[in-house]
Amino acid sequence: MLRRLALLIPLLALAAFARAQEPDDFGTRLAACAACHGKHGEGVRGAEYYPHLAGKPAGYLFEQLKGFREGRRVSTPMAWYVRFADDAFLQRIAEYYAALPPRTRSADTGAAQLTEERRRVAQNLVEHGDPAHDVPACSACHGANLAGLEPGVPALLGLPIDYVIAQVGAWREGVRNGAPPDCMHDVAGRIPADDIRAIAVYLSQQSNVDGLRPAPAGSFVPPKACGSLPHAEAAK
Ligand code: HEC
Ligand code: HEC
Repeated sequence: MLRRLALLIPLLALAAFARAQEPDDFGTRLAACAACHGKHGEGVRGAEYYPHLAGKPAGYLFEQLKGFREGRRVSTPMAWYVRFADDAFLQRIAEYYAALPPRTRSADTGAAQLTEERRRVAQNLVEHGDPAHDVPACSACHGANLAGLEPGVPALLGLPIDYVIAQVGAWREGVRNGAPPDCMHDVAGRIPADDIRAIAVYLSQQSNVDGLRPAPAGSFVPPKACGSLPHAEAAK
């Protein structure tokens, strides 16, 4: 059902989006995006796949939009929207969503549950990493509160389970590519395969109820260099 919607909605909304490229009514123009990303960029309740956008760093969002346009990230609906958009327009979209109050859809409480033991494994990976597999803690880059780091690291709070699993898979398979050095390609490749789902369920259960913003640029030092952050910030 959702997959079918995913094909229909762009068809209906694309015309309005293209038409709206001239007038100054930016909010109306982005109404097309609300169907999948929420009216306020908070994501859509009940949709197992669409990520929220509100309050993510503008630099991050801009890179993703360019990535869809240039094929460094693959998504049929997203490719439709950004195909003919120039950088200035994408930058404006990125700044619009980044400036919204950070919100996620309410946390998943439904079907997917973790046993106490799996939950501990996931939480441990997120907060402390797995030195045996050379996996750094997710929080070392995404922040102790998982709210992200300006300008290039998004929050990990409240993302849908299937979305996280798909993104980790896309990095492992080389379908999603960040700016080099692509630290997430490296991290994703090191997460033990059996633990990916547990991490995704665990993250989906953390919603951004407190409206946390990404930490200011340079406020902590990531353990690896990422192309989307100033390299000098990396400890090694
Ligand atoms: C039909 C549903 C749909 C519509 C409408 C839609 N998107 Fe998306 N969007 C998606 C999907 C699905 C993804 C995740 C793609 C993937 O698997 O990598 C996504 C991802 C994104 C991302 C990356 C988010 C992140 O955290 O990495 C941005 C930014 C984005 N969309 C912006 C927009 C904007 C702006 C619009 C309106 C012009 C829009 N989207 C309309 C489905 C949609
Ligand atoms: C060395 C720093 C670093 C570490 C450690 C790290 N990340 Fe990331 N992560 C990033 C960066 C940078 C991005 C943005 C990538 C891009 O621009 O393509 C990102 C993006 C993501 C995204 C995409 C979010 C979205 O909205 O699409 C997910 C999911 C993710 N990371 C999960 C994890 C998990 C799970 C861990 C821990 C196992 C982790 N990350 C550890 C730096 C890191």
